[in-house]
Amino acid sequence: MKVINSADEMQKTAESIRLQGKRIGFVPTMGYLHEGHLSLMRIARKQCDTLVCSIFVNPTQFGPDEDLDRYPRDFDRDERFCREENVDIVFYPSAKEMYPSGFSTYVLVENLGRKLCGISRPTHFRGVTTIVAKLFNLVKPHVAVFGQKDAQQFLILKRMVRDLNFDVDLMMGPIIREKDGLAMSSRNRYLTGRQREQATVLYKSLCTAEEMIAGGEKKAETILEKVKTVITSAPDARIDYVELVDPGNLEPLTVIGDSYLIAVAVYFDKTRLIDNILKTD
Ligand code: PAJ
Repeated sequence: MKVINSADEMQKTAESIRLQGKRIGFVPTMGYLHEGHLSLMRIARKQCDTLVCSIFVNPTQFGPDEDLDRYPRDFDRDERFCREENVDIVFYPSAKEMYPSGFSTYVLVENLGRKLCGISRPTHFRGVTTIVAKLFNLVKPHVAVFGQKDAQQFLILKRMVRDLNFDVDLMMGPIIREKDGLAMSSRNRYLTGRQREQATVLYKSLCTAEEMIAGGEKKAETILEKVKTVITSAPDARIDYVELVDPGNLEPLTVIGDSYLIAVAVYFDKTRLIDNILKTD
């Protein structure tokens, strides 16, 4: 396994892999890897000859009052996980390497980035699309794999790839959960014991929604009310949003159709957790 820190070297290496006729699979991450990330590597591995994983805590996707400085980092541990997953190349650049002084070009997907998480994190998706566009130019993947955990991120990146004609296929991996249902996230480590216990309400609320839908409930308002009740049964949970939307445009649905996204974002003190159910036809 090779670790590359330089953008230039990454790009030249990707070019030579392509010239050998090999398929490049790519899993971008911010590190502090967990089973969720590893599951994406396994999906990508099956699609490619050369597997590249990037580890970069991207400053432009964090707001001024967010957790950039305390975001967990442990490269030695991440490197070990990557080796175990047969990753061929770990791209691990510095912030200076990705954002040299004078950096001033951003990729913005309008509309979709202003909804759901974009309301409380107004510059977040601009940072995500900018870094992923840069990474695509450096890693030159044939296929890139992202998690459903960040469903809005996936839908926005799909739109970016379509709108800007990036020559890459995007795949989505399912949400990997802890035994009690909490979606795995690098941010779960911020939770206190008490918050961690209560954090299961996100998944419970989504299961309740699924049960209601399976039982024939179609009215979004009724489903959303119940989801909110389950979440607020946890005394320390503070809802950021609970929404039932069309996954095509992220506009609210009043009635459940063939495809829908139920997305929740909940604060426990300063820690913000997200989860969702996505159904596409
Ligand atoms: P990060 O939060 O590290 O996540 C990297 C990838 O892992 C994303 O595609 C995310 O959806 C996926 N992922 C996270 N938790 C998961 C889980 N429990 N189950 C399945 N997949 C999971 O998302 C980012 O980094 C960044 O925004 C990035 C795309 C790397 C751009 O900086």
